Amino acid sequence: MDNPARRQLLKFLAASPLLYCTAAGRLLAEESLDAIELPDYLIGSPADALDVFDFHAVAKHTLPPAHYGYLATGTDGNETLTANRRAFEQVYLRPSRMVDTSRISLETTLLGESLQSPIVLAPVGSQGAFHPDAELATARAARAQGHLQLLSNVATTPIEDVMAARGEPVWFQFYPTNQWSTAQMMLERAERAGARVVVLTVDLNSGSNRVLLGQHVRTDDRDCTTCHGTGSVEDFLRMNPMYQGSRATYANFAMADMTWDYLDRIRGATSMKIVVKGIVTREDAASAVEAGADAVYVSNHGGRAEASGWGALESLPEVVETVNGRVPVMIDSGFRRGTDIFKALALGADAVCIGRPYIWGLAAFGQAGVEKVLEMLKAELAMVMGQVGAVSIEDISRRHVGVR
Ligand SMILES: Cc1cc2nc3c(=O)[nH]c(=O)nc-3n(C[C@H](O)[C@H](O)[C@H](O)COP(=O)(O)O)c2cc1C
Repeated sequence: MDNPARRQLLKFLAASPLLYCTAAGRLLAEESLDAIELPDYLIGSPADALDVFDFHAVAKHTLPPAHYGYLATGTDGNETLTANRRAFEQVYLRPSRMVDTSRISLETTLLGESLQSPIVLAPVGSQGAFHPDAELATARAARAQGHLQLLSNVATTPIEDVMAARGEPVWFQFYPTNQWSTAQMMLERAERAGARVVVLTVDLNSGSNRVLLGQHVRTDDRDCTTCHGTGSVEDFLRMNPMYQGSRATYANFAMADMTWDYLDRIRGATSMKIVVKGIVTREDAASAVEAGADAVYVSNHGGRAEASGWGALESLPEVVETVNGRVPVMIDSGFRRGTDIFKALALGADAVCIGRPYIWGLAAFGQAGVEKVLEMLKAELAMVMGQVGAVSIEDISRRHVGVR
């Protein structure tokens, strides 16, 4: 890429609420605890994986630096990324012995939908950056493994094609825009395609400082113009399936003035249920429920929004307490193991979404990699349930964990 185009791309990526490409520290701080024990080999097939980090190693090896940076990045010095993982250390398991756990069910319900497990695929944008089959591979894996899939507003693949590959409705994640005609167009299109739920992401309204992404982009000397054009937001929108027909510009994604009445506007434009993604405090949980959210989604965007240094799992108890069963509570950010998922369920989450782990699987082996990641997380969760003496998701309760 020539220098001006490259500079423009970097500038866009650093400031964009649509794409989060930045670099995090020189080490992958997020996984530092696990990285200590990362074996020095690359698995050759999904079947060889011992945990999701085996896919991470292959993804890191396979992806071009800029794309890996987009995946790995946190913000600033990756304080929140690190906090997301550390939070799990503060919660420990309290196993009950001598319970008949010969039959364990992961089945549950969420917003009226029956789910085979509470493990959900978080919306991750631009999956074409990770594998040529992009969101189609993810959808086929979600179908094969029976998982709810949330599709990003900035997906590489049109929602209609993803729905067909998934074989059941996906939920549509929506980035707010102040160009209401564009918002309306996308909401109508998602609903027409079959989506019954819109997930409004509210944690990037003031931008985010993706340093790690920028550092990785700097080390990538490929010509990126074929895929990214000049790097301008207008080119990005022109190439993005969901924005076809929109005349939005960069200014239309400056959402610093967005407030809770935006939910009323969405409700006026669609009959899809509304989930608010990016809540981390009791105050916002209360406001979301008051504003009519059908579910509250605890998330710090996988450490890609503000550098709060506050892990998502640490936010969960106050949100659960405030919501008090009025609507379901979902969570993501930092979940890598069945044990992590179990801890959130025990602290009151109704569903746990995963982001990077399934993308590691996608980048490493396409659909087969995503499938294996999902299969492993389910098996790990079932094992923890057996260990603590919980036979169903409903059975999992606060008594199964302690907080240091
Ligand atoms: C590469 C990447 C792209 C993402 N794109 C989106 C997106 O388009 N919309 C959104 O709401 N969240 C997006 N997220 C955030 C995820 O939905 C989710 O909150 C986060 O990945 C969960 O943390 P985890 O990666 O530690 O599991 C993205 C995350 C990553 C890593």
